[in-house]
Amino acid sequence: MSSSLLMKVPKAELHIHIEGTLEPEMMLDLARRNGLRHRFDSVEAIRKAYQFGSLQSFLDLYYEGMKVLVSPGDFRELALAYFARVHAQGVVHAEIFFDPQAHAPRGLDFASVALALKEACEEAKVRWGITSLLIPSFLRHLDEDSAHRTLDEALEAMALHPNLIAGFGLDSSELGNPPSKFARVFQRVRDAGLHVVAHAGEEGPADYIRQALDFLGAERIDHGVRCLEDPELVRRLVKEQIPLTICPVSNWKLGGCKTLEDHPLPRLLDAGLRVSINSDDPAYLGAYVGENYGFCQSRMGISESLLQVIAKQSLADSFRPG
Ligand code: ADE
Ligand code: ZN
Repeated sequence: MSSSLLMKVPKAELHIHIEGTLEPEMMLDLARRNGLRHRFDSVEAIRKAYQFGSLQSFLDLYYEGMKVLVSPGDFRELALAYFARVHAQGVVHAEIFFDPQAHAPRGLDFASVALALKEACEEAKVRWGITSLLIPSFLRHLDEDSAHRTLDEALEAMALHPNLIAGFGLDSSELGNPPSKFARVFQRVRDAGLHVVAHAGEEGPADYIRQALDFLGAERIDHGVRCLEDPELVRRLVKEQIPLTICPVSNWKLGGCKTLEDHPLPRLLDAGLRVSINSDDPAYLGAYVGENYGFCQSRMGISESLLQVIAKQSLADSFRPG
């Protein structure tokens, strides 16, 4: 299969932070339109700054970049730009993460961000036939009280808009912020009948993956690549068929592996783990989901037929009803 055919294979993207789709051009445009001073004065200067060696070095620029998102309309525009791009890459379903706590300091409450994104999701269905779900994520570098307040806001919004979100995730700085810190708030998420996903085993140890399963009830693990350090955990993930949402270029660019050729995906597949291929933060990392699939073929030697199976499985691993 040529890479252009790989782009056309119907697939779900299950690990995408909408704030991570903010392209430098849109960042500068929104800064100008919103009357904000910006640290960088050109697209080239922004791209030049995107040299990450760790998750934190990326997060610092990611949180800074998203400050140009000021009005609900900015979020709608951002999400529509994402849908337009991935429609051309075979994405027929997307589960979109967003970080409500990161927008609160700019006066954006949960409902205004979530409703703006939902509007874009509905428009994407009409324009491109793409289905989508929203999954806000708690920022793990903040305390659990802040997560509880965010959940309160979400539940309040859902009283008026019952299908506004599909679940909650956990993201941001992993090391030193284990899943166990958020056990009580995720109990409330589950009690509300919402899905649970969590970033774990990206930079953090394999034990954080176990904690995400045992303390949070995570149904999918985002990244999870470090499970390979714990054979017992790998056996459990295989037995329980827990999906891992893998983001190859992200792991490479944020220091999880030295080269794409060294990426653990072939070993995860050999171990019998259930995986999907995703982009994470494509505007910062330089690769959308289609390019991630392409690299799995060209740089890791994963066969076309296996990539087709993975694409099909991504749809099965989604929370899409029916
Ligand atoms: N937020 C956005 N991208 C992230 C990543 N790769 N890991 C943790 N938090 C994130
Ligand atoms: Zn992520």
